[in-house]
Amino acid sequence: VSRLDSVIRRLSAQRYVLNFVAPFVAAIPGPIIEVGLGNGRTYDHLRQLLPGRRIIALDRQLCAHPSTVPPAGDLILGEIGETAKGLSGVEAALLHADIGTAFPEVDAETRRWLPPLAVAATRQGAYVASGLELAHQQLKPIALPADIEPGRYYLYQRR
Ligand SMILES: C[S@@+](CC[C@H](N)C(=O)[O-])C[C@H]1O[C@@H](n2cnc3c(N)ncnc32)[C@H](O)[C@@H]1O
Repeated sequence: VSRLDSVIRRLSAQRYVLNFVAPFVAAIPGPIIEVGLGNGRTYDHLRQLLPGRRIIALDRQLCAHPSTVPPAGDLILGEIGETAKGLSGVEAALLHADIGTAFPEVDAETRRWLPPLAVAATRQGAYVASGLELAHQQLKPIALPADIEPGRYYLYQRR
């Protein structure tokens, strides 16, 4: 597959997973955490799926379209491996992370620091959706339907 095919499949899987999990998240109190705001497209989708819910977004720099810049206080800039430590105990209902890269060594490092931070920032029963596989005792993998190609996206429930 080309890189274009690959990004289309990843984003289709991302949208599928977020659409699938949104009704469950709607019943769970707490903010949403968007790890990797980027252009803000996913942020926009999340705020449409869960209207009125606080969404805290993280990125190393602001590069979102002006229409999807989070309100003051809900945007945290800096290296997420450091800034996300400040979200420990916020009891988020959903944490979504789209910070995979095409560089295996970078992704291996992210897979090391992200799972404990995701667990610390979410409440029991919350959901964690990620483009990278996350291994943690307190993240129970949720099976996705067969039409999502294995390895494209991952969904977990926080134990
Ligand atoms: C693939 S983009 C996210 C795209 C986003 N879902 C959207 O709708 O536009 C990943 C973003 O995460 C940010 N990022 C990746 N790793 C990071 C890290 N360790 N610390 C801070 N930001 C990071 C990048 O700057 C980039 O904007």
